[in-house]
Amino acid sequence: MNAVWREPLIPVVSFVRAYAKINLTLDVIGCRADGYHNLMTIMQAIDLHDTICLTAVDDDQIHLFCSVAELNTEENLAVRAAQVVRQRYAIKSGVKIEIVKRIPFAAGLGGGSSDAAAVLLALRQWWQLTISDAELLDMAAALGSDVPFFLRGGLALCEGRGERITPIASDWPPSLRWLLLLKPAPGISTATVFRSLPASDYTDGSCSRALLAALRAQQPIDPACLHNSLERGVLETYPFVAQAREDMLEAGAPLVRLSGSGPTLYAPFSELDHAQRAQEQLQRLGYEIYLTRAMPAA
Ligand code: C5P
Repeated sequence: MNAVWREPLIPVVSFVRAYAKINLTLDVIGCRADGYHNLMTIMQAIDLHDTICLTAVDDDQIHLFCSVAELNTEENLAVRAAQVVRQRYAIKSGVKIEIVKRIPFAAGLGGGSSDAAAVLLALRQWWQLTISDAELLDMAAALGSDVPFFLRGGLALCEGRGERITPIASDWPPSLRWLLLLKPAPGISTATVFRSLPASDYTDGSCSRALLAALRAQQPIDPACLHNSLERGVLETYPFVAQAREDMLEAGAPLVRLSGSGPTLYAPFSELDHAQRAQEQLQRLGYEIYLTRAMPAA
């Protein structure tokens, strides 16, 4: 007898993409009374993404299946995002969240924050909630400092803890057309990196301001603007990151910078063939490499 395929009773499914980011600049301006740091950072979404599938369920639970086993926990920011929406708007329905993880985690690429923002946006639409942009931003900021940026993505200046977002309208500079990412094997804790940052690495925001001005005026980018206050300490504390940086320069990268608190490094290339040659050389050394580009805002 032939088996009969029956459609599940609950066919409501929604797929969304959650993009990674890099920090073009990261000025740490100072430490705050709440333990966080005031920042000026220019972030750009890139076309490396996780895929999230939301499915309706017939109970009132949030179910998670993540393709990376160690992220399959209640602490996953995507689950916390769904919990926040359910609680705040007294939603009775549950939801199943499946995540195909492609963005390396604990990497300085904002993967968990991006998943959370994607879930907030998807559930607002799915449950047809009238949530103002300000409320959404508030929920996002409560989940994590990088989450507000991912509500829009694209290119933006982020200030305060990271939650004050100013979108930047600019054509993407040709010198940054291709972005080669190298993810050294061990992850790094953001909290540890911030905690060990000496005040001598604080900056006054001038790098972010200079880059902002250059982007808005469509001027060539001065590499000195692409400053990350966390980079010096990370290179000094984690020799495997310093070695990876040397290997990227050796492979022809015109410049190499740390994204966020690392350990991912990125190198911009204007020509694809140069980027590809560097990619091949670094892959031969056994590195995890992604060749990517900037993603405009949705
Ligand atoms: O906000 P989020 O949970 O992503 O931050 C992770 C950690 O990074 C915080 O616990 C804090 O130690 C540090 N951090 C900081 N200042 C920021 C953002 C993050 O000190 N603006």
